Amino acid sequence: MSSKITIIGAGSVGATIAYKLSYEDFASEIVMIDINKEKVEGEVMDIEQGTCFRSPISIIAGDYEDAKGSDIVIITSGIARKPGQTRIELAQTNVNIIKSITPEIVKAAPDAKYIIVSNPVDVLTYVFTKISGLPENQIIGSGTLLDTARLRYGLSRHFNVAQKNIHAYVYGEHGDSSFVPWSGANIASMPIDDYYKAMKDLGADLTELDKPAMEEYVHKSGGQVIAKKGATFYAVAVSVVELCNLVLAASDSVATVSSMMHGEYGVDDVCLSVLSLVGPNGVQGKVPMHLTDEEVERLQASANKLKEVIAQLDI
Ligand code: LAC
Repeated sequence: MSSKITIIGAGSVGATIAYKLSYEDFASEIVMIDINKEKVEGEVMDIEQGTCFRSPISIIAGDYEDAKGSDIVIITSGIARKPGQTRIELAQTNVNIIKSITPEIVKAAPDAKYIIVSNPVDVLTYVFTKISGLPENQIIGSGTLLDTARLRYGLSRHFNVAQKNIHAYVYGEHGDSSFVPWSGANIASMPIDDYYKAMKDLGADLTELDKPAMEEYVHKSGGQVIAKKGATFYAVAVSVVELCNLVLAASDSVATVSSMMHGEYGVDDVCLSVLSLVGPNGVQGKVPMHLTDEEVERLQASANKLKEVIAQLDI
């Protein structure tokens, strides 16, 4: 399936997404939009001059009207975190930016699936949902998709097993209040604690998993990368491109993405990440994975933190 994908924001995240997409067979048309015309034209030139090694693709630096007919619109616009900053501290500035973008892009591409990436992503997914007037299934926040990827990488290293064999997820805010519902985490279909015991009994050189430390690794990874290299963009970009892949697939997949909650686990009127069905109809629904009472409390605490932030914003 050849698809038209528009990316708003030609910063490091948007440009890396465009670069990755330019080598995906499912993308046949990419439109990049940015207020900085020189920057977006430069990014497009740099990407398109490497496309001789793949099937023909159209990549343009455009304006909102060029987004007409997009299958997917990815919103990455906004200021990025600086070392030591939290994602939440970006909130009002980036809310103002998404408020200015939304009417323009929705007018050009009312039928697109929207992937919100700008941070704080749960807050901005909520704002976009509220102001766009689009059906909620068309709106997908990248949420904890990246956090889940970081978790699986960390668990893969700890247990010395391929990431594809690890089924563990990050729930809640894409931020410090997220958590891992360990009760549902498994490796090779075994609950993670059982897997450890079984492999240890077989003589594997494993240490017991420090679950709070693993959650801390997920919470702090983004900030650590920013402190070392100034920004994160590779892991988030491949996560977003995978999300495009899921949306363009013929059937639904399961992923932790941010979308509007309607009472699931006692959480309402806020966007955060739980296991969701993502596919040709966008966010088709939520997967009602069982959570322990403590895990439900942690999800509700994450929701309440986001609600406190939203309450202070001029939406
Ligand atoms: C990170 C950004 C995408 O966690 O929030 O790398």
